[in-house]
Amino acid sequence: MKPVRLAILGLGTVGGGVLQLLQENATEIKRRTGREIQITHVGTRRPRPDLNLEGIQQSDNLLEIVRQPDVDIVVELIGGLHPAKDIIIEAIKHGKQVVTANKALLAEHGNELFTLADQHVVQIAYEAAVAGGIPIIKVMREGLAANRINWLAGIINGTGNFILTEMREKGRPFEDVLKEAQELGYAEADPTFDVEGIDAAHKLTLLASIAFGIPLQFDKVYTEGISKITAQDVQYAEELGFRIKHLGIARRAEKGIELRVHPTLIPKEQPLANVNGVQNAIAVNASAVGQTMYYGPGAGGGPTASAAVADIIDLVRDISYTEDGSGTIPQLAFESLKDIPILPRQEITSGYYLRINVEDLTGVLADVTTILSHLGISIDAILQQPRLKNRIPIVIMTDPIVESKMDEAIAKIQALPATHGEVIRIRLESLEH
Ligand code: HSE
Repeated sequence: MKPVRLAILGLGTVGGGVLQLLQENATEIKRRTGREIQITHVGTRRPRPDLNLEGIQQSDNLLEIVRQPDVDIVVELIGGLHPAKDIIIEAIKHGKQVVTANKALLAEHGNELFTLADQHVVQIAYEAAVAGGIPIIKVMREGLAANRINWLAGIINGTGNFILTEMREKGRPFEDVLKEAQELGYAEADPTFDVEGIDAAHKLTLLASIAFGIPLQFDKVYTEGISKITAQDVQYAEELGFRIKHLGIARRAEKGIELRVHPTLIPKEQPLANVNGVQNAIAVNASAVGQTMYYGPGAGGGPTASAAVADIIDLVRDISYTEDGSGTIPQLAFESLKDIPILPRQEITSGYYLRINVEDLTGVLADVTTILSHLGISIDAILQQPRLKNRIPIVIMTDPIVESKMDEAIAKIQALPATHGEVIRIRLESLEH
């Protein structure tokens, strides 16, 4: 069979990694696909004298590259929404298969792109877009295909997890650790994507779509970042037997689907509580298998290139199957997706950690607990720390309650004359069932 021809767009850390991986492991890969993969084009502006580009055409006109007849698969690794979207559309219209790591583009415009791909009978493969080196898309689509997914919860932003880990282990302030994460190259170009949860929401959107067969609905993910978490909260959580993790959670509830990204207190003994540094992990609770967890590096050149090359190999196998005349390429079956409602935040039930800074006045704790009890919110634990200047931080953990009630409680506590600053709430998850 003739080689499958590839265009790699973007020769940064990941694009360069893909090229090197395909060259270094060419024999292994050919054994696995039964077919040679030939890189015919690279699209880049920057020179990469460190890479072997012999026999490969190089250009910065990416739209022109994806129109070329000697390209079967386009590997988009430039990131961002524009011009990546137009380039992928052009590639699909020219009948090319697409491999991408572009989580933002798929989460925000994926419905349109997958529909177009369906019409042109090509695939968009995106293992590299979610949790880097962890093959979670294949797990959901293949390994767990027999199951009904009940919920999944993941640490899917390495930068956020690195920050929380450093705050806990070394008591370092947030800003300091973020700066280091940027220097180490973990953070997104715009680090607010990491610290405000947007990057995790992009990834959760993709995971939830596969898990529950729902369209991509990035705009309906409740998204909260870690920027309000202080080293103090991390320490209080420890004292109470919990650890704060920034989780993406997708859960099938009675009336719809919960889709949320926020800091979460989880019991210290839970495996997810022990995923540290820049590592990612995803726990999946599924009907037949029960709970499984997938762990590994969620970012970086090597892990992300590993995922992109795995997608290339899959596509090469699928293309070969088709060219044998045995059928069309199996698609995502996009048209069969169901639109189950996404629950608004106010309808979600969970336990809460509240941190309230109050003036040291007699009766203030009673005022707070009265507000909670009038709203039917049961207290599970209270931690009152010694005075910090004139303020007392009161930490309260509650039993599960619907979020609309907690909104009411927080508004009332916030309005007490003794309350200072913002009442901090962090949701709790046991991750047991
Ligand atoms: N900024 C992302 C992270 C990179 O920290 O996880 C991988 O998507």
